[in-house]
Parts: sequence; C-alpha cells; structure tokens
Amino acid sequence: MSSECCLDESEGVAGMERLFKPRGVAVIGASSNPAKIGYRIIENMQNAGYTGEIYPVNPKGGEVFGIPIIPSLEDATGPVDVAVLAIPAKFIFPAVESCAKAGVGHLVIITSGFSEVGNTAEEARIVEYARQHGMRVLGPNIFGVYSASCGLDATFGPGGILPGHVAIITQSGALGIAMIGKTATESLGLSALISVGNKSDIDEADLLEYLATDDATKVIMLYIEGVKKGERLAKTLAKVTRKKHVVVIKSGRSKRGAMAAASHTGSLAGADEVFDSIMRQSGVLRAESVQEAFDWVRYLADVSLPAGREAVIVTNGGGIGVLATDACEKYGVSLYDDQAVLYEAFADVMPAFGSSKNPVDLTGQATAEDYASALRAVLEEDRMNAALALYCETALFDTDRFATLLREIYQEYSGRKPIVFSLFGGERIEAMIRDLRKEGIPVFGDVYQAVSALGALYRSTTTMKREPKKLSEIEIDVEAIEEILENAGQEDRNFLLAHEAARVAEILGLRMPRSILARNLDEAVKAAEDIGYPVVMKVVSKDIVHKSDAGGVALDLVNRDEVIDAYQAILRSCHVYKPDALIEGIEVVEMVRAGVETIIGARQDASFGPTVMFGLGGIYVEVMKDVSFRAAPVTRTVAEAMIAEIRSYPLLLGVRGESRKDTSGVAEVVERLGHLIDRCRRITDIEINPLVVYDVGDGVKAVDVRILFENPRGVN
Ligand code: COA
Repeated sequence: MSSECCLDESEGVAGMERLFKPRGVAVIGASSNPAKIGYRIIENMQNAGYTGEIYPVNPKGGEVFGIPIIPSLEDATGPVDVAVLAIPAKFIFPAVESCAKAGVGHLVIITSGFSEVGNTAEEARIVEYARQHGMRVLGPNIFGVYSASCGLDATFGPGGILPGHVAIITQSGALGIAMIGKTATESLGLSALISVGNKSDIDEADLLEYLATDDATKVIMLYIEGVKKGERLAKTLAKVTRKKHVVVIKSGRSKRGAMAAASHTGSLAGADEVFDSIMRQSGVLRAESVQEAFDWVRYLADVSLPAGREAVIVTNGGGIGVLATDACEKYGVSLYDDQAVLYEAFADVMPAFGSSKNPVDLTGQATAEDYASALRAVLEEDRMNAALALYCETALFDTDRFATLLREIYQEYSGRKPIVFSLFGGERIEAMIRDLRKEGIPVFGDVYQAVSALGALYRSTTTMKREPKKLSEIEIDVEAIEEILENAGQEDRNFLLAHEAARVAEILGLRMPRSILARNLDEAVKAAEDIGYPVVMKVVSKDIVHKSDAGGVALDLVNRDEVIDAYQAILRSCHVYKPDALIEGIEVVEMVRAGVETIIGARQDASFGPTVMFGLGGIYVEVMKDVSFRAAPVTRTVAEAMIAEIRSYPLLLGVRGESRKDTSGVAEVVERLGHLIDRCRRITDIEINPLVVYDVGDGVKAVDVRILFENPRGVN
C-alpha cells in the first residue's frame, strides 16, 4: 500500500482513529534483548492483548515473544497503521521513508535526541516529510501510546494498565511512566494514555478532539509543561469540556514572561496567571498536585452528574462536620438548607442529642444501621442533590458491618446521585479505605480531599450545562486602525503617539476627554478656553515616551495664566530632559473629574494569543496585582465576570454609602478591547490606564490610551 499523497492540514478526528484503533502496529527496533526498549514495547503489547497484528522489525531477524521479526517493513503481510520507532536518532529519517512506502498512518517516535537537545532541524525535516507523505507524528522523545479500545499498550512503561474511562495526555515522560504505576495502585482504569513529548506535530489539541468523540473516555487528564499553540488549545478545550471532564496539572509557575513584558498588562500577565485564567475560562479543572488530579479524575470517571448544587453532610462527629462545612465553602459546594425538610427527613433516625441541621450530626452514639438509614434518607430525597458521608471511628462501631452497608448504598445509589465518603480513624479504618477504594468507591481519608472532589464535579457540571453565549457583533473599522499603525510605522516606531492612540480609541467607540493639539502658545490658550477649565497639558513628542519623567505633564490648570506658565515650563523641562527631542506640540486636554480608576489592557500573549485584562487602578494594580484575565474576544457575560472576580469588586458596587459604579460601561470597554486585539493582530499591547468609572448611568472615560504594535520595519 503506497501513500505518496500530501496530508490535508485538518485531517482531524477521523485520522486519529488509526492511531487509537490500528489494524497493525510495526515496532521498528524490535529486539529479543530484554534490556532494549524495542523488547519491552512488544512485551507490553502482547500482555495487554492487542487485537491487531504486531510486526516486529529489525534487519537482524529472529523472533520475539514467539512472533517472527521481519527484516523490513516491506515484509509486513497486512496494513500497518502505526509504526513505533525505537532506534537511534540518526536512523529515524530513513526509517520514516520506509514507513511512507508502507502506507503507515502514524509514527510514534520514542527516540530522544531531537529538539529537546537543540536538534530542531532534524525534527522539522522528519515532520515535514511525514506530513507530505500522509503521516502524522507523535513525539519524538516519548514513552509511547496506550489505547484500551484495542488492547494496545505500545509503551515501554511497567505494563498492567487497567482499561477504564480516564484518558491521560502527558508531556512529561518520567511522570507519565510513574502515573502508570500509580493508576494500578489506585485501581484507576484508563481509556488511553498518550505521551506527547516534543509535540513536533500531534499536540494536546489534536488528541483532545479525538478523545471528545471517544465513548469510553469520561475524563481527560492533562499534564502540561509548556504551551505551544495556546490559542488553538484554549478553543479546543472550551469545546471538549462541554462533553468530558478535563483536569489539568501544569508545572512551572514562572514569572519570566512577566519580566520581559513592556506594559502593565504585560507585567501582570505572568505566564501562570494567564494560564490559570484561560483554563478556568475553558471549563478545565486545574489541580494543585498530581494527587489532587488523581482524586478528581478517579471520582469523575464513575460519578453521575448532579441534578442541582445542594449537598447534605451526614456525620457521626460534630467537629468533622464543621471541617466539612468549611471545605464546602472553599470548594463551592452549597449545603441544603430547608430546616423543615431536613427535620422531617431525619426524624426517625436522629438520636436524642443529634442535630438534623446540615451537617446532619448523628453523634457518636449512632449505630451503623442508624448511619445507613440517614444516608438513605438523603439519597431518596430529590431536593437533596448529593451526599457527603463523614465518619469518625468510635469504639462502639462495627466496622465490617459498616463497610458492607456503605458498599450496598453505593451500589444502589451511585448511578443516581453523587456520593463521597470520608472516613477518619486508626488502622481498621485505613484498611477499610484501601479496600473500598480498590472497589472504585470514592472514599477519602481527609474531608478536604472528599469535598474537593465533589467541588470539582460541581464546577465541571456547571461547564457542561452552561448555555453557550454568543459574541456580540461589534463593528470596528479595522482598516482605519491599520492605516494609523501603518503611518506610525513609517516613522520607525512601535508605539502610537497620544493623538494617534486617541483616534484609535475614537474608532473603537470609547469616550475620551476632549483634547486639542496646540502648536504654539496662542493655540494652547484658545484650546483651554474652548474646552473649559480646568485642563491638563501634555507634551506630544515621539522622542519622549515617559512624559511625566520629562516634566511634560501639567495637571489641574484653572485659568489662562496657569496655561501660559505650564506651556513654557513643559517646553523648558523637556528640552533639559532630551535636548534633541522633536516636539510636535502640546496637547490640551479636559481635566477629568474624579471617579473610580480602573485599568483595562489587552495584548498578544506569547502562548495564548489575544488576551484581555481588567483591574482597579492605583495601588490595587501596583501592589495587590488584583486583576483578571481572559482569552479574547470575550462575551459581555465573561467581561462582567472578569469585573466581578477581582477582590476589590465591592469598591465598584459602592461602599460606605457611595453609589454603585457603572460596571456595564466597563464591561463594554473590556468587550471592545477584546474584539480589537483579536481582529487587529498587529497591535501587541493596548492599555487604558486609567479608565475612570462614574456612578451607574454616568458611564466611563478613558483618560490615557497607550498602544504598542508590531512594526515590520523591525523596531522593538
Ligand atoms: N530498523 C530496525 N531495527 C534497527 C534499525 C533499523 N533501521 N536500526 C537499529 N535497529 C535495531 C538495533 O539493531 C537494535 O536491535 P538489537 O537489540 O537486536 O541489536 C535495536 O534496533 C535498537 O537499536 P540500538 O542501536 O541498540 O539502540 P538502543 O536500544 O540502545 O537505543 C533508543 C534506541 C530509541 C532507545 C535510544 O536512541 C533513545 O532514544 N533512548 C531514549 C528513549 C527515551 O527516553 N524516550 C523518552 C521517554 S519519555
């Protein structure tokens, strides 16, 4: 089967089928030497019961696990959808050529020694050749791929992967291999496990698109070290999280990106803050640790979606009940609160000292049967949406009987309503937790772990049930803006002067203070009188970027004399600051009346492309870094959520008798800036600082707008 065709760029999900359900797999570099990776892969494929044909390839011939080794791929007797390559880097390219001749669909390149060590050119050569010949490349520098649907374990991991509902995509090889062991001890079944390594061709987005269509996969866990094509990843995640739970672990909370940035928005947009916000925006659950990720995926793989958000805690200990209540607040789990219904539901099982308030406290006197009855009462009551079953070991309790009851209850109700258990005690309890967990029952040793899993379920369910919101139709004359950038670019700059930025703001429909450019003293006085006092004056010069530092700004000028003095003072200071600066004139601007100062920025993020940021101005942004981010463009609802999520949001709602501020005016600016940065990719940074916000109905005013852009003439 020859395949000389060129691969369509978006071969998509259908193409990925061949990787996950291959009819035949060749292992190039197969070996009968147990110390070799090429031996290990065949061993794992055999043990996992791969249902297709295995073709071990090695010019030396021989056999491995009773399968004859063929000297060349040409000797394969059936279709080869996947070729796993485990030979030294220098032999990969010729082997890839032989794969093209054999009509291979996917190359799984285990070999290291490519872009991760600077050998970028060879990696690019392989990918280019492969794509031209209709093949996709997984890796290089990976430990392989596992697919439960056909019993394919083409990895050199420890083997013994259990089939199940969790798909893992990992960038780290070592951690990925370790995860195989961990899944076995946690009795966690996998639908797929993919090592992406250098992501030379196939990346997370390709795999996510496929896994979203795979019925066996209920949860996808991603381990990410660095994001390459973030914009595509975020868009794919936003689609996939509507169908599957997605949990991400990301290492490297680096601030490096922030240091290199040229604006406020940039310096606040630390790589991790942006990653975190965009994951939340895409409906992804970000775990703090590998353990937390495992807790979540294990729970999410088997649980049914809750009908509502109201959980009930059943406990035999008051203290642990209070801890759970705290945890519920932290993880956003709401507690059912109708006292009358609670009283009625638990009247028959409540001991004299107990409390039917939520947490429902049966006290240490409760028997295993009392406890089971209370739990059943929660699970039978439609108005209560989930059960959080807590138990502290007591001397009186029959642990074996208790374990049996929990098992029965879990089997009977888990398909209908989410349940999590948290048991606390000595050796007997620890053993019980281990046993129940092996059976797939969600039992945790720590209350916070249990509630965190339930919280993850609620967040993911909210994403799945969320009505998709449409982006507003916003007219922006991008051509006119491009023309302003083009003209500014002719002057070898990568920033717009104030009046140019003001023109962009005007095109964007932002309200700015009135402003007139004065080229001499008479014009300055006339401008001030036209605008009306008080006014502000600012120098306009492409040679002076930091106007205040140059003494190029004068505020609150209340009459003609002050305007005359300020005009002369500005020219003098700027001359001293930069004697050769070319001064175009002085901008006379309406002095904006006070309001709440906010900052809105938008930029092309190095990983995720267009992003928007919102925060309060002044110390809130400088000291507290109280800002929110999203991938742009955003809907009006998302813009509103960005405003509401900063810690200092109450200041906009009006505190100490002040009236509520015009947050809808702010949301509109966030939305518009998001559209602009998306549609006009040449703008690298745009920042409105401050955007002054007045009382509801009075709107907002963009006082200062700064714009940086990419100049093809190479100015930075
Ligand atoms: N076609 C088929 N077989 C070939 C071949 C070719 N073109 N070239 C070599 N072979 C055979 C070799 O003869 C050898 O077989 P043998 O054991 O019967 O002699 C086998 O393939 C392996 O080749 P070898 O030269 O012994 O290499 P190796 O096993 O020492 O190393 C890699 C190969 C791929 C394991 C190594 O280059 C590598 O990259 N290691 C790192 C892998 C890794 O860590 N990946 C990332 C994990 S996260």
